Amino acid sequence: MIDTLRALLVPGKGLLAMDESVGTCNQRLAAAGLAPTAEMRQAWRALLLGTPQLGEGISGVILHDETLRQSLDNGRALVSAAQMATDAGLQIGIKVDLGTHELPGHAGEKVTEGLDGLAPRLQAYRGLGARFAKWRGVCSIDDLTRPSLACIEANAHALARYAGLCQAAGLLPIVEPEVLMAGPHSLARCQQVTEALLGSVFSQLQRQGVALELLILKPNMVISGLGCPQQSSPAEVARATLQCLRRVVPAAVPGVVFLSGGQSGPQASSRLNALNAQQAMPDARLPWVLSFSFARALQHPALEVWAGQASQQGAARAALMHRVRCNVAALRGQYSPELEHP
Ligand code: 13P
Repeated sequence: MIDTLRALLVPGKGLLAMDESVGTCNQRLAAAGLAPTAEMRQAWRALLLGTPQLGEGISGVILHDETLRQSLDNGRALVSAAQMATDAGLQIGIKVDLGTHELPGHAGEKVTEGLDGLAPRLQAYRGLGARFAKWRGVCSIDDLTRPSLACIEANAHALARYAGLCQAAGLLPIVEPEVLMAGPHSLARCQQVTEALLGSVFSQLQRQGVALELLILKPNMVISGLGCPQQSSPAEVARATLQCLRRVVPAAVPGVVFLSGGQSGPQASSRLNALNAQQAMPDARLPWVLSFSFARALQHPALEVWAGQASQQGAARAALMHRVRCNVAALRGQYSPELEHP
């Protein structure tokens, strides 16, 4: 786990999340005008994993169970997805939660399932080459009742139980509590809810005896809701996010890698840039490595360019690498919107 941690948090790199459930992956394919089939998912994931130079800015990939068990076409032969990732110099991660389900008695709220039988599944994933894992819990916001304490605590408890099981199986856990962007809420409300959720997660992690030194936190950035008339600047997002993290994330945690949550590629890069620029200021040093673990903000432009055409594979990979390089620049505080139009 220590070796995996070091490899994942190597300076100047982030993670590529490509672990969408079958349903979510199909929705994204369909939105790009592609057939939502197993073959298309396989071809899309082979395109991502076979991108030359991916390892330039990516230290690890998070795969879905379907992909980890699949052979993919690497252009020369059919090889396992794990082999493709290893050939690209990437650490292999696996999403182990079984998705979000209605939380009874709390209309519209979700709790993540998948703890039953998780221990043997983790052993099996290790055997297939995975060295780290991911579990996502979500909370949605409205100004009155959501998220309920019940939702926060149920998800925090599940995340801590998952993290403990991972460490027992020798897999490094990525702990992903996400406050969703949907809604008209303000930046301040997102900060309040994110603090409450992260606070509960760390209290549960400590209660369950999880080693904070051997996990990576994958939170949302603190941003105003999608429907909020007042959208914050990257500097405001960075300030609120860092204030929130400083208040509730113990210094023992080695790394914080942000999810993109539906932000566009350039939005996520400019906010990541502001986060890294602020922590580089004197007296603003942080105890954790800050990086990214994006799915949509890395994949989306490439998926549009690809359009399922073999002839577009090179252009799609170039679009992916463009986003990777923008985020690598952001890790150094060297991203600017001009990089989008070289
Ligand atoms: P997004 O970056 O699209 O939010 O996805 C990250 C992720 O891993 C979702 O679980």
